Amino acid sequence: MDLKDSIRVIPDFPQPGISFKDITTLLKDGEMYRRAINELKDLVAHMKIDVIAGPEARGFVIGAPLAYALGVGFVPIRKSGKLPYETIEVGYDLEYGNDRLAVHTDAIKPGQNVLIADDLLATGGTISTSVSLVEQLGGKVVGAAFLIELVQLAGRNKLPEVEIVSLLTYED
Ligand code: PRP
Ligand code: MG
Repeated sequence: MDLKDSIRVIPDFPQPGISFKDITTLLKDGEMYRRAINELKDLVAHMKIDVIAGPEARGFVIGAPLAYALGVGFVPIRKSGKLPYETIEVGYDLEYGNDRLAVHTDAIKPGQNVLIADDLLATGGTISTSVSLVEQLGGKVVGAAFLIELVQLAGRNKLPEVEIVSLLTYED
């Protein structure tokens, strides 16, 4: 079975015109989940990574196992109000709606090489916000890795200086 076949596409969710890529069908299949993480690991093998940062919530299910596979740490980037210690925050717009992301101020040491990992690159708002948070802490973003890239939304154009890798691409 193809990795892409394990992703369910739901038309008009959560609103008309959005073709939602439902990765829960991939995640519940142990073989597919492991294959996805192993293939992402190969895609980032040439990058020098000290730590992976992943944005809540779906970034956790990609970023954390990837960090484990690489033997590096994982830093959660969370939605506003969730982290208990001192944080910095940045607001951003989404494909649908808007939100704020936060990270602990001691989560990344200045000079650390950071890979940002998430399930999906759409407009690039989430990844841009994550890059901004990492850079505010003095981290160096060495790349961004995605399970899925929605190419029509051209999210990667928001971050021409970041090496972006994605396992699967969709045209809609
Ligand atoms: C989704 C997805 C990515 C982001 C991509 O997250 O998981 O993080 O949107 O869109 P963008 O490139 O336009 O920013 P969402 O904010 O829906 O939340 P979730 O991960 O908590 O489900
Ligand atoms: Mg997300």
